[in-house]
Amino acid sequence: MTDTVYVLNGPNLNLLGTREPEIYGHDTLDDIAGALEDRARELGLSIDMRQSNHEGHLVDWLHEAQAHDARAVILNAGAFTHTSVAVHDAIKSIRTPVIEVHLSNPHTREEFRHTSFVGRAAKGTIAGFGALSYQLALEAAARF
Ligand code: DQA
Repeated sequence: MTDTVYVLNGPNLNLLGTREPEIYGHDTLDDIAGALEDRARELGLSIDMRQSNHEGHLVDWLHEAQAHDARAVILNAGAFTHTSVAVHDAIKSIRTPVIEVHLSNPHTREEFRHTSFVGRAAKGTIAGFGALSYQLALEAAARF
């Protein structure tokens, strides 16, 4: 196993910082990546942070995480969380542990966010802590 943790982000997360800041906060994805890299260095890990608005990219990157023998995947699949059987199946198809993260807590929001195809396949879920959700997921990944 390598020391690399893949951090995969789905649709609209490129707009963090300006996108509904009352829900998602003011941190940009670059801010989150920077903080993760700092903590990863302390933990002896390295971060491979990516974002795509396209479902198939997330599927390909999940496969790649296993091929590269990644330590873990931290996955915020955005809206694909609630719709994507393909992302669900990709998580089930790899041995690399996947940690589902969300900035918001989908369970306190609209009904359509209460189903998570990612959560049904992931090792665990961290949601509702804003950018801290990613840090907490990294702490978990460091213990795998
Ligand atoms: C989100 C929650 C999802 O319901 C939403 O579609 C997102 C962001 C979060 O991080 O809180 O895009 O994954």
